[in-house]
Amino acid sequence: MILQGKKLLITGVLTPQSIAFHVAQLAQAQGAQVLLTSFGRPMSLTQRSAKKLSPAPEVLELDVTNPAHFPALAAAVKERFGQLDGVLHAIAFAPEAALGGRFLTTPWEAVQQAFHVSTFSLKELASALAPLMTAGGSVVTLDFDNSTNAWPLYDWMGVCKAALEATVRYLARDLGPKNIRVNALAAGPIATIAAKGIPGFKYLEDKWGKQAPLGWGAKDEASVQAVAKTACMMLSDWMPKTTGELIRVDGGYHAVGAEPVPADQLAALQAAAAAEKPAG
Ligand SMILES: NC(=O)c1ccc[n+]([C@@H]2O[C@H](COP(=O)([O-])OP(=O)(O)OC[C@H]3O[C@@H](n4cnc5c(N)ncnc54)[C@H](O)[C@@H]3O)[C@@H](O)[C@H]2O)c1
Repeated sequence: MILQGKKLLITGVLTPQSIAFHVAQLAQAQGAQVLLTSFGRPMSLTQRSAKKLSPAPEVLELDVTNPAHFPALAAAVKERFGQLDGVLHAIAFAPEAALGGRFLTTPWEAVQQAFHVSTFSLKELASALAPLMTAGGSVVTLDFDNSTNAWPLYDWMGVCKAALEATVRYLARDLGPKNIRVNALAAGPIATIAAKGIPGFKYLEDKWGKQAPLGWGAKDEASVQAVAKTACMMLSDWMPKTTGELIRVDGGYHAVGAEPVPADQLAALQAAAAAEKPAG
């Protein structure tokens, strides 16, 4: 069991479909003790989801836009666990105006909110909890690959995720001397509440399944479990010299430039190319 005895704080469990729920479930199966966080109205949903985990973890309060919540969270984690080995940051939100093809007209207020919740929160969480990682530790954030591409519809959330990747590198720089690793896991599309908030998510989901060499399904247990397994490995001691890194769990989608040519069209395309070749 790769997380035997590890004490982990897992944010971002909303429903049993949440990526963080799958990570929490697998982490427990791998021997970890887990605390969750939630806030405000989603709290009751998180508590209901927590009851589906075994044992049901306690849910601590954390609204990442409330600066007072971070020291209170650190104190609560210290009281429960004494020390901490790892944290999963699985938090993102962007208002409607920041998504869905409105990039050129999005107002600053919407961008600010998206950045605060989805990007700056990683720094806040890592710096609040680092003092509890007295034996070193691992901070893992969930990303959607954005450092090199502009995606349809993802808009300012894409910019926030690109900045999240930069934040990972700066945190890795500053927390490395304390033996705290900071890495991002870039997942392919998974059907969750946050994903439903992205207009046109279905379009991305369909494309992904066709292009990823290893295959991908936003509702496939194999894809969700691949993300959970990799997150657990990143939280474990099995990647001791990896930090500031972006690890993709996307079925290999990023590695190929376009969907494959369907096998039944390949022979016709080869014949057409041969026919167009100049004679001799
Ligand atoms: N679903 C996907 O396709 C996908 C792909 C790659 C990365 N991700 C990332 O995974 C992470 C988890 O998302 P998910 O897809 O599991 O969806 P989800 O809706 O289950 O989780 C999003 C979480 O963010 C939390 N949150 C929002 N505002 C918050 C605030 N102010 N304070 C504290 N928590 C807040 C919500 O309560 C929720 O638990 C996000 O960072 C998301 O961008 C998702």
